[in-house]
Amino acid sequence: MSKTIKKIGVMTSGGDSPGMNAAIRSVVRACVYHDIECYGIYRGYEGMIEGDFILLNARSVKGIINKGGTILKSARSKEFRTHEGRKKAHEQLTKAGIDALVVIGGDGSFTGAMIFSDEFDYHVIGIPGTIDNDIFGTTHTLGFDTACNTVVDVIDKIRDTASSHNRLFFVEVMGRDAGHIALNVGVGAGAEEILIPEEDLGLDRLLESLRRSKQSGKSSSIVIVAEGDKIGKSVFELKDYVEAHMTEYEVRVSVLGHMQRGGSPSCFDRVLASRMGVKAVESLLEGKNKYMVGLIKDQMSLTPLEKAIKGQSKIDLELLRVSDILTI
Ligand code: F6P
Repeated sequence: MSKTIKKIGVMTSGGDSPGMNAAIRSVVRACVYHDIECYGIYRGYEGMIEGDFILLNARSVKGIINKGGTILKSARSKEFRTHEGRKKAHEQLTKAGIDALVVIGGDGSFTGAMIFSDEFDYHVIGIPGTIDNDIFGTTHTLGFDTACNTVVDVIDKIRDTASSHNRLFFVEVMGRDAGHIALNVGVGAGAEEILIPEEDLGLDRLLESLRRSKQSGKSSSIVIVAEGDKIGKSVFELKDYVEAHMTEYEVRVSVLGHMQRGGSPSCFDRVLASRMGVKAVESLLEGKNKYMVGLIKDQMSLTPLEKAIKGQSKIDLELLRVSDILTI
């Protein structure tokens, strides 16, 4: 028997990503549409434990669909990893009369949501919000498309100076321990080589690839390095290694860092967020619990949270093959 839901809480948790505000907007307005009260929970689980809630209406979320970041802030909460912390959070939600939760975040946030749901028989639905695109159960997480567009634009700029000085650039991109950003921006920006944790290129093959590029007449090269790459050297150590073994190259390094997490969300991410927010609210109203909303074959779908957390988001082997062919 699903309980009557009259108030829904929405929060953002973990690393922020462009599109989170569009998702918040969609959750709030879907609640208003269904005559449900919607409460924003500030600073993720930390704010939940403190009862840091705000009633939101359709007008509260005006003008944010195009804003990066999250108006509800985000935080990582050590206390929520304890039963006592989760108990405090549950007491705060109960006191506020909030019946169910939409959690916008990554697998760490979903793990907390699932444990919380089990401990307190509390209904939660997850929306995958992270630039890493490393969550099973969706082809796209919120922010991935925007981050790729941001990075491709930056690499185009780096390409200008690399070609002006006949230099080799190592460009490190985010992705925690997944190579989705690196692979997509590497193909999109026409990089000469892409180092991702899912494929152990190895130093010898890297040098061979760079030599081949040079021999084919390329005067400059861009190598994209996923931050989680397992080649065993940091991008700075790679620079030193290549300069020591290939004196014909002048090498520079760019570590893009947190700028990949910012910026106005792309249309794709805004539309994805809008679809996911409505799906999340209506799934809760249908009595669903412990699912993640995802995009599969361009349809909104639900994946059990446990599978989303434990599943592996696989690298696109066809895209990897395209990359190998086009870097000839
Ligand atoms: O998970 C998103 C992400 O941006 C990863 O790509 C990156 O490794 C990590 O967060 C950085 O975490 P923090 O924001 O805590 O430095």
